[in-house]
Amino acid sequence: MRAARIAQYGDVSVVAVEKDIPRPQAGPGKVLVEVHAAGLNPADSAIRNGYMHQAAPLAFPATLGIDFAGVVVTADPSGGGLAAGDRVFGTASALSGGSGTFADFAAVPSTTVAKLPGRLSFAEAAALPLAGISALQALETMKVGEGSRVFINGGAGGIGSFGIQIAKALGAHVAVSCRGPAAGYVKSLGADEVVDFETTPLPGALRDFDAVLDTAGGDSYKAAFGVLRGGGTIITLAAMPDAELASKHGVTAQGQTTQATTERLDRLAALVAAGKIMIHVARSFTLDGIKDAFAAREAGKVNGKIVLKIRT
Ligand SMILES: NC(=O)c1ccc[n+]([C@@H]2O[C@H](COP(=O)([O-])OP(=O)(O)OC[C@H]3O[C@@H](n4cnc5c(N)ncnc54)[C@H](OP(=O)(O)O)[C@@H]3O)[C@@H](O)[C@H]2O)c1
Repeated sequence: MRAARIAQYGDVSVVAVEKDIPRPQAGPGKVLVEVHAAGLNPADSAIRNGYMHQAAPLAFPATLGIDFAGVVVTADPSGGGLAAGDRVFGTASALSGGSGTFADFAAVPSTTVAKLPGRLSFAEAAALPLAGISALQALETMKVGEGSRVFINGGAGGIGSFGIQIAKALGAHVAVSCRGPAAGYVKSLGADEVVDFETTPLPGALRDFDAVLDTAGGDSYKAAFGVLRGGGTIITLAAMPDAELASKHGVTAQGQTTQATTERLDRLAALVAAGKIMIHVARSFTLDGIKDAFAAREAGKVNGKIVLKIRT
């Protein structure tokens, strides 16, 4: 089978699509999936660059890729409730028990796979797992619900796009920051208020929010403390939580390690089936176009997600 692999850490030049890789296997706790599409995340670039190598070293050669959607070829012999032929989506990073998803086939932990809702294409489903779960987990941790006021810093990206829609489905009032040209996109997802982060410093008009989901980090993370009411909560996915600013503003600042689980994938699937989540695939590439896909994602200004269509 084909797989996009690296034999060392580095920029996009270290990625090679190899053609004669042995298929991974199912086994106790794992299903074998034929991958039809795989989503790209910032973590794929971080893993490739070696930013995580101290906490989580790769065994080389390593197949890249976390998110996938495809069809079960061989079920988990120890159970798990899936059968050959099921259309599924989930995560299968080589760093968390999978074999990597930028490949024709992937061995997938049975704990990070779920049936995908019938109405989704494989490309759409492959865009959902890591970003969708990151948004869901953060909003639930902050107990966002009916009438909550939520600010999402970085509303047009992967996590932001799902965060807006999940927060609206939970009954929240949602404000977001994004680049000016993305304003129409985030409004189409349900954002009630939009701030252009290139022209409008935070907090500006945004005040007294209960919860902030930060997907951008840097100075904008620090500025986002100013939109919270006293006692509010800010979760960042892109910075170290700032205890000093939390104390100064009288708020709670947390980080998050996103945990993909079948249960969370099922909840995302239910939101899709209920028409509450729309998935925007901004661009798609073939597996052979992996370098272009990385370059496009790393250039930013993507509304939604970039996806590899592996089986077309
Ligand atoms: N801790 C975890 O377990 C975990 C899990 C998943 C993701 N993450 C991290 O979460 C972050 C977001 O992931 P993602 O998939 O949503 O990435 P993404 O699709 O690149 O989205 C990030 C968004 O932030 C926007 N942005 C950039 N500068 C900004 C600023 N100054 N103010 C407001 N927004 C700004 C970007 O806009 P432009 O593209 O137009 O610049 C982009 O829309 C990444 O750092 C990722 O590594 C962490």
